[in-house]
Amino acid sequence: MDTYAVFGHPIAHSKSPYIHAAFARQTGQALLYTAIDAPREGFRDAVMQFRAQGGKGANVTVPFKEEAYRLAGVLSGRARLAQAVNTLRFDGAEIYGDNTDGAGLVQDLTANLGVVLAGSRILLLGAGGAARGAIPALLAQGPARLTVANRTPARAEDLAREFAALGQVSASAFGTLAPEYDLVINATSASLAGDLPPLPESVLAGAQFAYDMMYGAAETPFLALAGKLGCARRADGLGMLVEQAAEAFLLWRGVRPQTQPVLLALRQQLTGC
Ligand code: ATR
Repeated sequence: MDTYAVFGHPIAHSKSPYIHAAFARQTGQALLYTAIDAPREGFRDAVMQFRAQGGKGANVTVPFKEEAYRLAGVLSGRARLAQAVNTLRFDGAEIYGDNTDGAGLVQDLTANLGVVLAGSRILLLGAGGAARGAIPALLAQGPARLTVANRTPARAEDLAREFAALGQVSASAFGTLAPEYDLVINATSASLAGDLPPLPESVLAGAQFAYDMMYGAAETPFLALAGKLGCARRADGLGMLVEQAAEAFLLWRGVRPQTQPVLLALRQQLTGC
């Protein structure tokens, strides 16, 4: 049977094995998908061993996406732009690296949530790996404007400069943001610490949609604040997780699974109802 795995550290709570098993059942594909906890210094060895044992492909998560980018001998255009790889495919002697995170975000926003990105004003919070992966995919949708805001403004400026050729992208500090955005996306890791990006409340109050790439059983602090400030439409990153997985599945198996039933089941597991 073809085998796949997700590599990360830690990885015990990864939902990827569940998601890919569900995709395999739904599409009638025979495959086995496991989670592998690689030691911090042992990612490359762990992947090579998995491949030597016949592994066909892998997903890669925190903290190995940049290392996977360096490991891949052939890169997709979007992986090159993101400078990070979340999907590997072992093609004979070659290791092909792709990044499906940005596509997963856009698919969740547009297909699942009905957000129109073309012509919209988007504010992206954060300038780390998660933001970097999102920028090219968002710009490809033709927003009127994409502003990247970050606690360390220089990192946002670097990203805006780097992606300037792809569309209308600029940088800002948090404090000077004006309430002029339709969609605000939190790509910071602040929620992990139960923290909030320090943006003016008016920015969230005036937005039509707030999206957090993080997810959890309870609403993230960012989404809870958006709700309190009157932003009616909100979503967390569970849909993005399922959509990036579907893109990876397509790359490996040549068929795109239906994501809705899997997303629904995951949501029920997460909230316990
Ligand atoms: P990831 O790959 O998840 O994006 P990262 O590359 O470490 O992780 O980037 C984390 C992002 O979250 C950065 O934009 C970081 O801001 P800085 O560049 O100023 O460090 C942001 N971040 C983390 N904690 C934050 C907090 N408490 N408030 C605001 N921004 C935060």
